[in-house]
Amino acid sequence: MTTEQYYSLIPPYQDALSLILTRLEILDHAVYEKEGFRPIHSITHRIKEKESMEKKLKKKGADETCENARTMLKDIAGIRVICFFEQDIRHLAEALKKQSDLVIIREKDYIATPKPNGYRSYHLIVGVPIYHMDSMEYFPVEIQFRTISMDFWAAMEHRICYKNQPFNEMEMKSAFRQYAEILEKMEKSFEVYSENGA
Ligand code: GTP
Ligand code: MG
Repeated sequence: MTTEQYYSLIPPYQDALSLILTRLEILDHAVYEKEGFRPIHSITHRIKEKESMEKKLKKKGADETCENARTMLKDIAGIRVICFFEQDIRHLAEALKKQSDLVIIREKDYIATPKPNGYRSYHLIVGVPIYHMDSMEYFPVEIQFRTISMDFWAAMEHRICYKNQPFNEMEMKSAFRQYAEILEKMEKSFEVYSENGA
């Protein structure tokens, strides 16, 4: 993939990303109007870099071409939605899934079923219709919904374990699993306070 090809690949992914960002903001406002609180703490987003696309294709055993990136990579456009509580994630995801012009490409619920290392997050890949002058095509956007505590855990785990192999792997893994449980308990007790009128 040349640099030129990369830059001609990404514009519709940018458009799909912007569209979903706007819809998430609208949902955040809608909950605020109805409930008096904002479910979203913060949102980050990124378009996958050229080197990162090539690395992932290589890992999948495919040639590092634009065509393969388009067909095989569903996370070229990525959004991370950080909420306060699990309930906020459920409400937002349900509302987004009801938007009938979007297609659900993949759903992974690592909150209902955490990964063995303790990773928790709700991943949704949606196909977003992008209209050209006389045609339409779906482009995937990967949305990761996490609470603040899930994001704290994932950021630390990513830095320490996910990409590198720490030398005391077993010990770290068991510590991370325990921390995931502690964080979940903390979050649940904050939720009780918040429900009691705070
Ligand atoms: P990738 O090849 O990593 O994209 O995984 P996948 O295609 O099997 O999809 P999955 O939904 O499992 O993971 C997608 C993304 O979720 C990753 O790129 C990370 O951002 C995040 N993720 C998944 N598992 C972990 C984990 O164990 N730790 C952390 N920190 N992040 C994770
Ligand atoms: Mg990924």
